[in-house]
Amino acid sequence: MSLSYPLTPAESVVTPLEKVRLLEELRGAVLARPAAHQPTWPDADATARSRDELATMPPLVFAGECDNLRDRLGSVARGEAFLLQGGDCAETFAGVTAEAIRARLKTVLQMAVVLQYASSVPVVKLGRMAGQFTKPRSSGVETRGDVTLPAFLGESVNGFAFDEASRTPDPTRLTRVYNASAATLNLLRAFVSGGYADLRQVHSWNRDFVANSGIGQRYEALAGEIERALSFMRTCGVDPEQFRTVDFFTSHEALLLDYELPMTRVDSRTGDPYDTSAHLVWVGERTRHPEGAHIEFASRIANPVAVKLGPTSTADDALRLIQRLDPDATPGRLTFVVRMGAEKVRDLLPPLLEKVTASGAVVGWVCDPMHGNGYTSANGYKTRRFDDVLEEVRGFFEVHRATGTWPGGLHVELTGDDVTECVGGGDSLSEADLASRYETLCDPRLNRNQSLELAFQVAELLGPRV
Ligand code: PEP
Ligand code: CO
Repeated sequence: MSLSYPLTPAESVVTPLEKVRLLEELRGAVLARPAAHQPTWPDADATARSRDELATMPPLVFAGECDNLRDRLGSVARGEAFLLQGGDCAETFAGVTAEAIRARLKTVLQMAVVLQYASSVPVVKLGRMAGQFTKPRSSGVETRGDVTLPAFLGESVNGFAFDEASRTPDPTRLTRVYNASAATLNLLRAFVSGGYADLRQVHSWNRDFVANSGIGQRYEALAGEIERALSFMRTCGVDPEQFRTVDFFTSHEALLLDYELPMTRVDSRTGDPYDTSAHLVWVGERTRHPEGAHIEFASRIANPVAVKLGPTSTADDALRLIQRLDPDATPGRLTFVVRMGAEKVRDLLPPLLEKVTASGAVVGWVCDPMHGNGYTSANGYKTRRFDDVLEEVRGFFEVHRATGTWPGGLHVELTGDDVTECVGGGDSLSEADLASRYETLCDPRLNRNQSLELAFQVAELLGPRV
């Protein structure tokens, strides 16, 4: 979110009436397609009122910022940059606090410094934040004992508590999501441009991690190298503006059409529609059907977009998605986020890479080592093993090395807090430990130490240096 975006609006290339027509046409085209995983709102009028209210709210991001991110993702696709995308599986309204937002941002920034040093390329920082409030669920209902209620679909739709009032979809939540996202984005913007993200400060947090956590000591050599590089630059008198601020972008799954469609606006500069709820939106594993409503939506917005590819994805699926979403082969327009599972990535990824590369497409390839590695612990928690997460990343890198393609980044569910949701890591969290601080409303996240550890371990995989 570069503050250098020119805020003086260029003369509009479209009239207000043309904008309205364009958005109506877009909405009609999206809703003419089958839309999976949408809630059944109980009151159609109330839902329409919420949508109308959203449509009058100011955009959360500017089109020019989205273009800026697309250019950066173009570098990722060409092998000249690395993407780090991270945040909660499901954001919550209660989680919109300064402490929680700061801790998550801090964790992503710390990981990015380590990855950037090891990869020797810029790291594009993208939060799963400020809009990640809707979840696809394997079943529309949840049964406990003899009570069956609608499943929890994210706080954009209903409440987590297992009672009828909470679980009934409530469209007034749509504007609450907008407000929560605006507040989150506002703080993120303040942090990243106001000095909090200064490279030397971020490095000093990493130094603390290495010095003060038992697990950090393994990474002393790498932290020491970064320290020396920074000291060297200091003694040379190098103190660029880039040390003090960072560009940080936001993203979420574009799942809930009643939120994304009203947030879509026509850019006055170009006449193109942008989803102004985030810089990048992605289409998830369960809604990526090339002829479905979600891909239709993604095909019609000018933001950079991503699509998750799970273990059932074929090379032909990927090629069809490229045709639908990036027919002009614009670098940075389309990123594939691959989530095959640690055991499958080495078998399933190579044919995708080979056929997509042979087609001449220029897409980014990012590894989501979380969503293919879930299991239920003996004591009943949905969890993931740190070692499986790392193993999928390792497989992803190996496959790219073998095919001569660029492993463009990581997509991670993480928090800056010391939760106990994933097992393993240097603190050796066990299944019994999960009970002590299991807070996620959806998938288990890496905690702060596990996230930093992942960054250092990936740095070891990446770097000839370490
Ligand atoms: C997610 O990212 O939280 C998610 C639901 O992922 P996927 O679509 O890959 O299952
Ligand atoms: Co998830």
